[in-house]
Amino acid sequence: MIDPTHILSKYPASVPRYTSYPTAPHFQVGLGEPLMEQLLDGLTPEKRISVYIHIPFCDRLCWFCGCNTKHTKKYAPITDYVTALIEEIFLVTSKLTFKPTLDHLHFGGGSPSLLSASDFTRLRGALACAFEIDAETEIGIEVDPSDVTGETLVGLQVLGLTRASIGVQDFDPAVQKAINRPQTFDQTSQVVGALRATGIRSLNIDALYGLPLQTLAKVKRTMKKVVKLRPERIALFGYAHVPWLKKHQQMINEADLPSMLDRFAQAELAAQIFQAAGYQKIGIDHFALPSDPLAQAARAGTLHRNFQGYTTDRCDTLLGLGGSSIGQFGGGYIQNIVPTGQYQDAIRRGELAALKGVALTRDDIIRGHIIERLMCDFGFSFDQLRTQFGEDAAPYIEQAHSIASAEEDGLCALKEERFYVPDEARPFVRLVAARFDAYLTQANARYSAAI
Ligand SMILES: C[S@@+](CC[C@H](N)C(=O)[O-])C[C@H]1O[C@@H](n2cnc3c(N)ncnc32)[C@H](O)[C@@H]1O
Ligand code: SF4
Repeated sequence: MIDPTHILSKYPASVPRYTSYPTAPHFQVGLGEPLMEQLLDGLTPEKRISVYIHIPFCDRLCWFCGCNTKHTKKYAPITDYVTALIEEIFLVTSKLTFKPTLDHLHFGGGSPSLLSASDFTRLRGALACAFEIDAETEIGIEVDPSDVTGETLVGLQVLGLTRASIGVQDFDPAVQKAINRPQTFDQTSQVVGALRATGIRSLNIDALYGLPLQTLAKVKRTMKKVVKLRPERIALFGYAHVPWLKKHQQMINEADLPSMLDRFAQAELAAQIFQAAGYQKIGIDHFALPSDPLAQAARAGTLHRNFQGYTTDRCDTLLGLGGSSIGQFGGGYIQNIVPTGQYQDAIRRGELAALKGVALTRDDIIRGHIIERLMCDFGFSFDQLRTQFGEDAAPYIEQAHSIASAEEDGLCALKEERFYVPDEARPFVRLVAARFDAYLTQANARYSAAI
């Protein structure tokens, strides 16, 4: 039996969330541009690609927020930013002799929902010039319900939206006050109805545990309301308190934060509520109705994990556009300049905004594969590893044997040529993944709590 108290006290250090391997703190300045050239060189007309567009603006600032965003009361800087985005779309694709077909197109933030209908129209026009968008293209966007007006809905329809993700976090008024995010259930429910009426195929709701003043009773009430809205997917994140990176998190009273054990109990309770309501648990922090493609991919072992979390996206190329966006391809990861002003300046000078990156070694690729399978399937088979990597798989299989035989707390084990994380140890899979991380010991990066 796993003893969470023992595990949490034995491993108090933070661990990465493994949305990439190597993780972002290991990206190096100067590698972005050559890697972007390599990414573009490798594209072919028949290869579908995905695009992520970052909108780093919000018209409110939630104190818990860990995203790359900026609070703005004026709209003009957003229009300027959209202009830079359009220039970046043409700058990047001018290096190609064909229009790549988009598989997934995702707008993240910040709050892309605050774009005006005319900016959505401009963006959609530029995207349609540079890329093929067909009936299979999934177009998704992150929506702050407090932004949504009739105009937003018009803009989203112009965009051709097929999926939306809305932030809820917690419905309790005291918790909302402690995180500066007022948002009623009725308001959220109306936005859900309005988004559904646009014809989207799938809706995701983000909910949080580990927030200031959250208790089991409050988590229970919030999560019951979340399932009442019947989203196809739910993302349940543990609040990451990183005030040394996000200064506004200093507004949160640390004395109000739940303990590690409370966080663990809150996550378990929320998962029970979702599962009792018919949702399938996916990876470490997602839930989906069994008919949803994410749940189907999890059952089939074809789930993937990228910077946006768990995904059905199987393209090996993700192009990141906008300030701080991260892209990836078989050869590595690429991150654009983070400060919005500097990103816009580079684009205005006609330069690629790709700044940082990491070129993957064979060791990175194999470890990255192992870590992704652990995060998605909670295990990997040695046969599959040999099929994919041939003789190169041997040292990693050996490492898996030594990790499993040294394990004292039941976090991982071996069975029939398979390394796996037992069901009751799944909340701690990041700790197991970290054992395959060759960079962790050299890292001076600080991550968030393991739960
Ligand atoms: C870009 S926001 C979602 C869209 C929109 N801006 C909103 O807040 O409704 C992405 C999500 O990241 C999660 N998030 C933000 N800050 C976080 C933090 N410090 N720890 C854990 N999750 C966080 C929240 O659940 C949030 O909904
Ligand atoms: S949680 Fe969403 S709305 Fe709030 S500041 Fe972060 S990105 Fe903006």
